[in-house]
Amino acid sequence: MFNFRKSNENTQSSGEGKVIAFMNQKGGVGKTTMAYNTARALSEKGHKVLCLDMDPQFNFSSLFGYDPKIHTHNIFNLMINSVRELKALHTGALLSEAIVKTDSGIDLIPSSQALSGFELTVAGINAPRQLVLNRFIEKNRLREYYDYIVIDGPPTLGLLVVNILCAVDGVLFPFIPDSFSEQGLKNIQEVLLDIEDMGIVKTPKNLGYIPNLFESRRKQANEDFKSIKEEFPQAHVYAPFSNKANFAKSMSSRKSVFDFQAKDYKELQGQFLKMATEIEAQL
Ligand SMILES: Nc1ncnc2c1ncn2[C@@H]1O[C@H](COP(=O)(O)OP(=O)(O)O)[C@@H](O)[C@H]1O
Ligand SMILES: [Mg+2]
Repeated sequence: MFNFRKSNENTQSSGEGKVIAFMNQKGGVGKTTMAYNTARALSEKGHKVLCLDMDPQFNFSSLFGYDPKIHTHNIFNLMINSVRELKALHTGALLSEAIVKTDSGIDLIPSSQALSGFELTVAGINAPRQLVLNRFIEKNRLREYYDYIVIDGPPTLGLLVVNILCAVDGVLFPFIPDSFSEQGLKNIQEVLLDIEDMGIVKTPKNLGYIPNLFESRRKQANEDFKSIKEEFPQAHVYAPFSNKANFAKSMSSRKSVFDFQAKDYKELQGQFLKMATEIEAQL
């Protein structure tokens, strides 16, 4: 359940918070797992962190104990409320009412199934439809309150994804090194190029690729990994995460790897702290 104590009271935001997102149009590649544990790692390093769930399946929110039956305010309401033209749909939900504070000191703006209707809902507006999230973050000065805003992306490639990419400073791409991943990763690069062409926002930085569920003992996995590295030669590639039973176990008990002390978890903690340092260094 929710604990409304103030988060990370001893950390101060610098006012120039960074927005990062975990993206891949494929599901089951580890976006939510990586977003959750990276958010924890950034928090462990003393940053004030806000998690923002942008997947209508709200798995990220569930990890924080969010229950859509009890908690009716979510990012969909908040974004719609921020569009003046959609007055008829405004719910009056305040940001402060929607933010969920957690024991780990990390705040959350939850998602909702309603988010799957975002594209249709904003289809007729005159304001730039790609910039709804960007303007929501700006209007609410979230970069002043948080050092890092960590977005968990949906397994799609529509307007929601464009909104995320138009709002972030950097993107991370978790992927499973197999022969199907390459196309998915290329598709999202195309979207990034489209955003660059639009020229209305700063193109987000590619913060790199995170090989996940990597089976280093499988010859094919190594070859697929090599071929993906060759496809994106400029990109930063993080140390691979292998298939770890403990990982899945921590997620199913809604915990991060930082909530356990066994050796296996210590190693994973180290890996996430290193990744957090590499993210900090690039932004
Ligand atoms: N390295 C890993 N080892 C074991 N299980 C993992 C690992 N990464 C992710 N999982 C599990 O795989 C499933 C899909 O991961 P998830 O983060 O939900 O992917 P996505 O958000 O991309 O759909 C989850 O049940 C998660 O616990
Ligand atoms: Mg997910």
